[in-house]
Amino acid sequence: MKVALLLNGRPAELECEPDEMLLEVLRREGCGSVRATCRIGVCGACTVLVDGEPLSSCLTLAPQVEGREVTTVEGLAGADPVQRAFIEAHGFQCGWCTPGFVLTTKALLAENPQPSEAEIAEVLGGNLCRCGSYVKIVDAVRQAAAELAGQP
Ligand code: FES
Ligand code: FES
Repeated sequence: MKVALLLNGRPAELECEPDEMLLEVLRREGCGSVRATCRIGVCGACTVLVDGEPLSSCLTLAPQVEGREVTTVEGLAGADPVQRAFIEAHGFQCGWCTPGFVLTTKALLAENPQPSEAEIAEVLGGNLCRCGSYVKIVDAVRQAAAELAGQP
C-alpha cells in the first residue's frame, strides 16, 4: 500500500505493508536519524514529530500517518536553533540518542518556551542516553530556550 504524507516539509508517498512500523519505513526512505534501538517504546531513539507531537515511530503503524506531517532530524537540515544548541552545549557523546532528544526538545519548547528544570526532566524522561550525557543535554535545552527567547 501507499501512504501519502508531508515528510520533512515535502509531499511524499511511502510504500509499506499495512502492518509495518513507521520506524522501518522511514529508515528505508533514508531517514537514518530515526534510530532503531529498543523497538518497544522505551528509549525514545526512534522519536519523530507527527503534526508537531513527539511519537515513538517503533510503536506507530506507518498507515497511521496518512495525511499528516512527519518531521525527522533530516528535515531540520542542521539549521535549527535546537540542533545548534545541542552542538554548542556539547549535549551528546556518541550522538545515537541525539535526534530523539532534539525533536522532543523542539516539541517541548514549542509548547512551553521557558520550561523549568523539573519540566525539562519530565518531558525528556522518555528519551534515554546510554552515554549518560544528561547534564549537557539539559544545558542544551536551556541554551535553546534562551536563544529562542532572544536572550544572549
Ligand atoms: S526504538 Fe522506539 S522507543 Fe526505542
Ligand atoms: S550520546 Fe550516546 S547514547 Fe546519548
